[in-house]
Amino acid sequence: MKELIVSRYPKSSVAEAIKTVRTNLRFSSVNKKIKTILVTSSIAGEGKSFISANLATTFATSKEKVLLIDCDLRRGRQQELFGNGYFSSLGLSNLLIDDNWKRNLKKYIQSTEVSNLDIITVGSVPPNPTVLLESKKMEIVIEELRNKYDVIIFDAPPVGGLTDALILSRLADTVLIVAMAKKTTLELLENTKKALENVNAVIAGVILNRVEMKTSKYYKNYYYYQD
Ligand SMILES: Nc1ncnc2c1ncn2[C@@H]1O[C@H](COP(=O)(O)OP(=O)(O)OP(=O)(O)O)[C@@H](O)[C@H]1O
Ligand SMILES: [Mg+2]
Repeated sequence: MKELIVSRYPKSSVAEAIKTVRTNLRFSSVNKKIKTILVTSSIAGEGKSFISANLATTFATSKEKVLLIDCDLRRGRQQELFGNGYFSSLGLSNLLIDDNWKRNLKKYIQSTEVSNLDIITVGSVPPNPTVLLESKKMEIVIEELRNKYDVIIFDAPPVGGLTDALILSRLADTVLIVAMAKKTTLELLENTKKALENVNAVIAGVILNRVEMKTSKYYKNYYYYQD
């Protein structure tokens, strides 16, 4: 739970910054409410899971009914972020191979200690993550879940080297790209943006994560929108 900054330190600058992300997402979509948000990045370790969990908590704290889906079927760790031992081992991969998934849905959706926030963990690591994510079943499942939640956040793998995030972007109303200060090069970021645009994803913006607090006078600008 130590990474759930929004719950633990709601007044911290990181929590404030993530609240701003939520506010901007809501203001940017007054006409058509954004329901599904994909969080991805260029390479591993830039903070997708950290941002997804904290953003999901922020939406939940604002009284929206939230579902966080760990779609990183290779190395997802949302169950760790929310407290190992708290969750059953059944997750997205198990749901996607269950013929009776609709009837069994409650088995796969687990509540968290954050009220209004449910989670679908990754489940057993499958041999064929990409096949599962691009299946018609995944599309139908998300369509069904859309009716049950105000917002659904997908914690995805990185775009670089894998098609999973691009496939998932088809199911997302908008995409947030996480970049890590001093690590993600502009070239990498450009490639990620292009790859997503090629599959017609709507990019909400880039979150520049892990900005050193020493530069805090610029901190409020750490996050921006494209338009
Ligand atoms: N803003 C932040 N402040 C402090 N620590 C952070 C921040 N963002 C991420 N971290 C830490 O960096 C590590 C990597 O973050 P995270 O797992 O969210 O990255 P990821 O992009 O999901 O990685 P992967 O590609 O492996 O899924 C974690 O230990 C996380 O706690
Ligand atoms: Mg991750």
